[in-house]
Amino acid sequence: MKEKRSLITCALPYANGPVHIGHLAGVYVPADIYVRYKRLRGEDVLFICGSDEHGVPITIKAREQGCTPQDIVDRYHKIIKDSFARLGINFDIYSRTSSQVHEKTASDFFRKLYDEGKFITKETEQFYDVQEKTFLADRYITGTCPRCGNPDAYGDQCEKCGATLSPEELINPKSKLSGGELVKKKTSHWYLPLDRYEGWLGRWILTDHKEWRSNVYGQCKSWIDGGLQPRAVSRDLDWGVPVPVEGAEGKVLYVWFDAPIGYISNTKELLPNSWKTWWQDTSTRLIHFIGKDNIVFHCIVFPSMLKAHGDYILPDNVPANEFLNLEGDKISTSRGWAVWAHEYLDELPGREDVLRYVLTANAPETKDNDFSWKDLQTRNNSELVAIFGNFVNRALVLAHKYFGGRVPALGTLTAMDREALDEIPALKASLEKNLEEFKFREALKDALGIARVGNKYISDTEPWKVAKTDMARCATILNVSLQICADLAIAFEAFTPFSAERLRAMLNVGLEAGFDHRKGEQETENTFREGECAALHTLPMGASLAADGLVLRWDDLGRDTILPEGHTLAEPTLLFTKIEDEVIDAQLQKLEAIRQARQAAEALKAAPQKEECTFEEFEKMDIRTATVLAAERVPKTDKLLKLTIDTGIDKRVIVSGIAEYYTPEQMLGRQICILANLKSRVIRGIESKGMILMAKQGDGKMRFVTPEETVVNGAQIG
Ligand code: MF3
Ligand code: ZN
Repeated sequence: MKEKRSLITCALPYANGPVHIGHLAGVYVPADIYVRYKRLRGEDVLFICGSDEHGVPITIKAREQGCTPQDIVDRYHKIIKDSFARLGINFDIYSRTSSQVHEKTASDFFRKLYDEGKFITKETEQFYDVQEKTFLADRYITGTCPRCGNPDAYGDQCEKCGATLSPEELINPKSKLSGGELVKKKTSHWYLPLDRYEGWLGRWILTDHKEWRSNVYGQCKSWIDGGLQPRAVSRDLDWGVPVPVEGAEGKVLYVWFDAPIGYISNTKELLPNSWKTWWQDTSTRLIHFIGKDNIVFHCIVFPSMLKAHGDYILPDNVPANEFLNLEGDKISTSRGWAVWAHEYLDELPGREDVLRYVLTANAPETKDNDFSWKDLQTRNNSELVAIFGNFVNRALVLAHKYFGGRVPALGTLTAMDREALDEIPALKASLEKNLEEFKFREALKDALGIARVGNKYISDTEPWKVAKTDMARCATILNVSLQICADLAIAFEAFTPFSAERLRAMLNVGLEAGFDHRKGEQETENTFREGECAALHTLPMGASLAADGLVLRWDDLGRDTILPEGHTLAEPTLLFTKIEDEVIDAQLQKLEAIRQARQAAEALKAAPQKEECTFEEFEKMDIRTATVLAAERVPKTDKLLKLTIDTGIDKRVIVSGIAEYYTPEQMLGRQICILANLKSRVIRGIESKGMILMAKQGDGKMRFVTPEETVVNGAQIG
C-alpha cells in the first residue's frame, strides 16, 4: 500500500444534457490533470464520478418530450460518459445515481440519520396542483417576475433578470404541468438542522482550512456568518430515491441529499470490498472538484451530512472554479449557447489535446474567463504547433537525418548546453508546486516553459549548420535536445495525454503511471456491468513497456541523461498541426446561427405587460384617425420619414421612424392612427406634433394600426 492516498471526485453532471466546455474547464479537465499528476508521482489515487440522475429538471424534460425520466438519463448518461472517455478523462468508475447500489447506499444513509434523530420535521404549506393532484416543485410553478415583469419566471428563479425567487413572490402563479389553478396545501418534510453544525463548520472551515481557495473560503464564510437554516432533505416527487420511512409515500430524497452520496455509492460499486479504506480511513485525502455554484453543497451541506453520519472522512480541499463564458456570453444549456464536448470531438477529430490545453490555459480559476475560437486557434498555432511541436519535430528529424535514429553521444557540455539543461529542474519544481496547489494555468505555463527552453536552444545552437563542420558537437546538441523531448513526454502527460503518448512512441519509451485498484479485489457479480457503468482506465496502467524496455518516471524529469546513448528512436510524425481559418470560421458561423435563432425566437415572444394605469390616465391620451397627405425622407437619415397628415382638426407634420419598413410612396393616402396630444418635439430640425401608432415586434418589425374600414379623419379611438 502506498502511503499517500487521495480520493478525487468530480461533481456528478446532471444527466439532462451533454457536457460542454464550461463543465470541462471548471471541473473535469483540472481534476484529470491532478489525478494524472498524482499517479505519475506514484501516489495512490481513486478517481470517482458518475451521472446525477434525479431532480426536477429531468422530470420536466421527460414530460416535454413525452418519455420517462429514465429514458432521458439513459440517453445523456451515455453521451456524457462517452465524451469523458474520448477526452482521456479516465475515471476509475463513471456510474449513475439511478443504480441499485446507489439507491441502497443513499437510503441507508438517510435511515441512519433518521434513526439517530439527526433530522427535524416541519410542516409547511406548498403549492398543490389540483388538476394533477400533486405538489409542485418550485421549478414547476411559473408566473410573472415581481422584479422585471418577465411573464415566464420560475418559482425558484427568473432567468431573465437572474433574481432568486420563491413561488410566493410570483405574480399570477400557475402550474407548469397543467397550466391550471394552484392551492396551498400542508405537507411535511425532513430537515437537516444546519444551524446545529454552524459552530463546528466555523471551526473546521474558517479556522482549520484557511488554505482553501479564497473564492471557496469567502463563500463559506458568508454562509456561516449569515447564519445557517435547517434544509429540507425530502421532496414531494415521484422521481428519486424513495424516503425509507413508513408513511412517506410520494416522497423522495432531495436530489442534493442523494447526489453527493453518489460519490460513496460509486466507490462501493467499483470496490465492494475495499471502499471503506477510501471513505473511512483518516489517512485518505478527499478532494472534490466542482464549479462555484456547488460550493455550499460540498463545503457546508455534504460535510454536515458526513459529520452527522459519523463514519466518514471530510474533504481536505474543494478547489472550486469560477465560470467559463463563450465568446463573451454566459454559457447556457437551456438557450443552447455552448460548445458541446461530443460535437467538438466529432467536428475537430484528433484535437482532444488542443481543447484540454486551451481550457487549462484559460481555466477560470480565480475569476470568470472567456473561451473564444480565435484564442483556440492562436494557442494551437503559436504555442502547441510553433513551440512544442516544432521543437520536438526538429530534434527528432535531425536525429534521424544525421544519426540513423539513435540517440547520439554526449560530448563535453558548453555553457549554453548547461544553461538550457539547468532550467528544467527549476521549471519542474515550479510545476510540482503549482499542481499541488491546484494552480493549473500556472502549471501549464511551466510545462510549456520546458518546450520554450528546447525551442530556443535548438534555434540558438543550429545543429543543422553545425553538422556541416563538427559532427561531434552536433551529436551533443541533439542529445541535449532529445533529453528535453523526454522531459516534455513526462511533463505533458497530465495536460495533453494523447500527444504525450505519441511523443513517447516516437522516443520509443514507456511511462510509469499508476496502477489498477481492482487488482486484489475479489471478483464479484455486479462489479462491472458490461458497457454500462464502469469506465475503467483506457490508458495503459502500470509500466507501459517500450520495445527496448525503457520506462520513464516522474523523477526522470529534469535529469540530464534520461535517454541513454544509442537508444533507438521511432519515426517522427507531427505532434500538432495548424488549425486553418476555415475550421474556426465554421465554428463561429455555427454560434452565429444559434444567436440568430435565439433572437428570432425572442422576437416572437410578446413583451411583458406594463405597469397598471388608471382609466383617467388612459383618458388623457387623445388617440384618433388621420390620413397621410405627403411623405418624404428626412435627409441624411435612414429611419425617419416626414409625414404631413390630416387629423380632422388640422394639418400637421409628424416625424416617424418607419423608413426601414415603408417608402414615402407606400405612405401616400394611407389612413393611420395617431396619438394627437403628445407634446411636440423637434427632430432633426423639424417640429413633430404627435405620434403614429404602430404594432411593434420584438425584432423591430413594425406595421400600421389602421381602422378596419376607412372612417372620417379625427375619429376618436378609445
Ligand atoms: N449535478 C450537479 C450539478 O451539475 C452536481 C452534483 S455534485 C454531487 O450542478 F455532489 F451532488 F454529486
Ligand atoms: Zn425577473
